[in-house]
Amino acid sequence: MDKIRIVGGNQLSGQIAISGSKNSSLPIMVASLLTDQKIVLDNIPDLTDIKTLIRILKDLGSDISYSESDKQLSSIRQLNRRVNICSKNLVSNQANYEHLSKMRAGFLVIGPLLARTGYAKVSMPGGCAIGTRPVDIHLTGLRKLGAEITIEEGYVIAKAKNGLIGNLIKLSKPSVGATQNLIMAAVLAKGETSIVNASIEPETSDLISCIKKMGVQIEVRENNNILIQGTKNITGASHKIMADRIEAGTYAIAGCMTGGRLELTNFDPNLLEKPFEILRDIGCSIKVNKNSVIIEKLVSDLQPIKITTEPYPGFPTDLQAQFMALLTQVPGTSVINERIFENRFMHVQELVRMGANINLDGDKAIINGRTDLIGAPVMATDLRASVSLVLAALCARGETIINRVYHLDRGFEDLEKKISNCGGIIERIK
Ligand code: EPZ
Repeated sequence: MDKIRIVGGNQLSGQIAISGSKNSSLPIMVASLLTDQKIVLDNIPDLTDIKTLIRILKDLGSDISYSESDKQLSSIRQLNRRVNICSKNLVSNQANYEHLSKMRAGFLVIGPLLARTGYAKVSMPGGCAIGTRPVDIHLTGLRKLGAEITIEEGYVIAKAKNGLIGNLIKLSKPSVGATQNLIMAAVLAKGETSIVNASIEPETSDLISCIKKMGVQIEVRENNNILIQGTKNITGASHKIMADRIEAGTYAIAGCMTGGRLELTNFDPNLLEKPFEILRDIGCSIKVNKNSVIIEKLVSDLQPIKITTEPYPGFPTDLQAQFMALLTQVPGTSVINERIFENRFMHVQELVRMGANINLDGDKAIINGRTDLIGAPVMATDLRASVSLVLAALCARGETIINRVYHLDRGFEDLEKKISNCGGIIERIK
């Protein structure tokens, strides 16, 4: 199994072009199941989660091809990866445990598959171990649209022999995946569906924007209410995937932790308003341009902070672990309250092994800074936890070896290349 070796202490300076968003690409690729016409998607990142989803879609019968072309982004050259998907001839309506155990987003196929074919058998999902992560909100919503659902031998079996029928669905929590699943199911349902207390994360908005290009009337109203007019006339579309705001936030923190002057390009800084506000409160300098930001650490007078994870536009849980690594370098006591997932502190024990002083109290982590971090062998436990260890290692003394790198490969494109181009010492050990 690959490992990553990092020698800390170097400042990161230079430019990093932000890749396409994983969490936007996945539901949008699944939306190709809604139509028998071709969907063309640009800015798809090269990640194992994308490859896993391609396998799931191919097993269902989707015809998928890719092409790559050089694109010039400011002074950086980057590949644009285009994925063409045509799901005209579906051959199966079953998504197996083998793939779903690796990636939770595969469960999103249940909504569109059921709506299109009247039947779907989909394995209960796996993914990052950050909580129990049930799928009850997805299933309650599908039942509201008229589906009959049973769970047998680890599989969810959903049937709607006469098609789905639009309805009012009130989500008990603004679940990102359930919102996306139900939007896709409702697109092919008869009549109007209103999803109340929906997730309006930027990635859900990107999905909605692609589905609109497919000819569907869909509207986001006040109070996180999404209104969908069901239709059978769904066309193909071309869509460019939004940039990955979590990748951008992660490198912004890398810039703050290591000093230097880091320019992040090719993304919309408005999507990181809350995290940037917090970085400024801590004492980092962030200059926001239209599609880029420049990050610099202010070396003196860093301030501790309190952070609570919340649905967008609040502070994202997917940046919680990375901020915790940063807060180990801030004098005073900072507190992070994790409100989205009940078990998303797996990085704490590894950061402590590197010298951090962090105590857990239920859903709160209390970080006492500033502590010197010292390189150590550490183990990645989930995607964002893994990258928090990369950040800690970049400003630690000595060498850190990060094990279980496959988590990082699920969500960070060209991580070693992007960091080493800016002066970080990082290499993959095969
Ligand atoms: C999405 O996961 C993201 N994944 C996650 O990113 C992200 O952390 C999360 O949203 C929150 O922003 C993708 O987009 C592929 P949820 P999702 O349903 O959809 C509970 C990453 O690192 N819940 O909004 O699975 C659930 O247990 C990943 O890229 C139910 O109780 O998240 C959690 O506590 C990790 N029942 C909360 O809701 C349900 O049926 C939010 O989960 C569904 C969810």
